[in-house]
Amino acid sequence: MNIIVTENFAKTCELAAKMIGDVIRNKPDARLGLATGSTAQGVYPYLVAANKAGKLDFSRVNTVNLDEYVGLPADHPQSYRRFMDENLFNHINIDKKNTVVAKGTGDIDANVAAFREAIAEKPIDVQLLGIGVDGHVGFNEPGVVLYDGAHVEELDESTIDANARFFADRSEVPTKAISMGMGDILRAKKLLLLATGENKAEAMKGLLLNEELDVQNPATLVKTHPDVTVIIDRALADCIGYQA
Ligand code: F6R
Repeated sequence: MNIIVTENFAKTCELAAKMIGDVIRNKPDARLGLATGSTAQGVYPYLVAANKAGKLDFSRVNTVNLDEYVGLPADHPQSYRRFMDENLFNHINIDKKNTVVAKGTGDIDANVAAFREAIAEKPIDVQLLGIGVDGHVGFNEPGVVLYDGAHVEELDESTIDANARFFADRSEVPTKAISMGMGDILRAKKLLLLATGENKAEAMKGLLLNEELDVQNPATLVKTHPDVTVIIDRALADCIGYQA
């Protein structure tokens, strides 16, 4: 793993956006694997700015997102489709027909099948990842069994707690999500995992401070990937006692 410690979260996001930009500049029809949440949200303004400055062209880029809540229609303020539109797609020259976010309402089995087909269409050149408080990547929650392909995942209580900040009430947070599987994530050509904040310390210790692959901390499986970059800020590195 290539582990980079930056001065602060803004620098983490700037660097991640540069790395994603480099993938696109090298391969204008690249497929990006994208994430939602506060961490990924920090990256998108840099991609938007590069696009607006004429330095990054998304006209041939194709994207697929890690996950979507079950039960939220695409236009719900907290759906991940809406998050992506508002934080990235509405502001860049991407054709929305080339953006895949699983559908969270209607026939969920059919939506999972369609999502699996969409994932299989084209390899992901770079997959952006955040990490859950419990070590989830995508919505692959800790458990005895992790899944290879896209599936419906029951969200852990800690994930529901963490995501409650986006909803008026905790009871409104969906309890299930459609997520790429661990295999889908690990098949991406390049992984870019970002983390910030003390609440990620335990999960990040498992990722950075030992060689264990732990199904109770799914992010640890990225250690097996041949091209993974982890970017954290100095505050998190100090918090977990990571030394470069
Ligand atoms: C989001 C996703 C999740 C988040 C993780 C961290 O699409 O797949 O794994 O990356 O929950 O979320 P934040 O960045 O909000 O702490």
